[in-house]
Amino acid sequence: GTPLRTLAEAKGVYIGTALQANELSGTSGSIAGAQFDSVTPGNEMKWASVEPTRGTYNWGPADQIVSFAQQNDMRVRAHNLVWHSQLPNWLTSGSFTNTQLHDLMIKHVTDEVTHFKGKVAHWDVVNEPFNEDGTYRADLWYNQLGVSYIADAFTAAHAADPNAKLYVNDYNVEGQNAKSNGLYNLVKSLKQQGVPIDGVGFQAHFILGQVPSDFKANMQRFADLGVDVAVTELDVRMQTPSDAGKLQQQANDYTAVVNDCLGVSRCVGVTVWGFNDATSWVPSTFPGQGAATPYDENLNPKPAYTAIQTALGGT
Ligand code: G3I
Repeated sequence: GTPLRTLAEAKGVYIGTALQANELSGTSGSIAGAQFDSVTPGNEMKWASVEPTRGTYNWGPADQIVSFAQQNDMRVRAHNLVWHSQLPNWLTSGSFTNTQLHDLMIKHVTDEVTHFKGKVAHWDVVNEPFNEDGTYRADLWYNQLGVSYIADAFTAAHAADPNAKLYVNDYNVEGQNAKSNGLYNLVKSLKQQGVPIDGVGFQAHFILGQVPSDFKANMQRFADLGVDVAVTELDVRMQTPSDAGKLQQQANDYTAVVNDCLGVSRCVGVTVWGFNDATSWVPSTFPGQGAATPYDENLNPKPAYTAIQTALGGT
């Protein structure tokens, strides 16, 4: 059949996958390069990865993924700059004053965006800033710097690479709910203040049969604020083992998500969080669950793959 990326390009969207540096060679690299036209490093651009020791950058694994993308004519969705998780120990165990922490954040954003300047299409600048009830997550950024850390991170990223599209990214914000209302109010406020935010990423880590029916309408209300939207980390997990019925339901779920994106003119693309079940994050985080991606553990396409292909106009 026609590769997903060819179909996506004809529809004016991209189809992406998360990849880790150890997946670039062999069969997984071949499939990724053939089928997808966007890549998100699964871990390699996170702060703990790039600066494990204060002041010593380790760009190697992330650079490998960027080179892979260039060789395969893929765009890079860079992930991420400011998050509560996967921070280096020196940062979380140090006790920094508010001013020091602010300066460390700005330096990190500036240095990392500068390193990849001109090589990435999108940056997830702020990742997962909300609690489920729509209040701000009480992480070290919010606790010490207050909500202004968000605007400051976007401003610094824009100064370092004015051409990268800058995103806020979160999960459980796909339907209209308390958390997505919080995110909506944040984006509205940032736009009103003239903060350089370009897009909203909906991670879309779904449970089988639970794609919110208002996902499209919810993305549209964000788009109406004057930002792009993207599905950034799609997967659909189930109790394992899978069976034919579950895989068909999963295919229907993938169809719904791709159609929801295609139904919003400012939805620029869909990224799956790992394209195969062999390397998906799900089983280690949710014991007993898995089979969440479009390819099985042997890297063979599943009904979910065919569903994406069909939704993108393939036959
Ligand atoms: O690299 C070490 C390895 O040296 C060590 O032996 C091993 C033992 O546990 O751990 C390895 O690190 C793991 C790392 O993935 C690389 O595989 C970490 O333990 C593990 O926690 C880490 O998980 C990542 C997770 O983010 C951390 O929160 C997943 O791979 C990654 O897919 C996941 O991605 C997040 C997005 O960034 C944000 N949205 C949710 C999404 C899923 O959790």
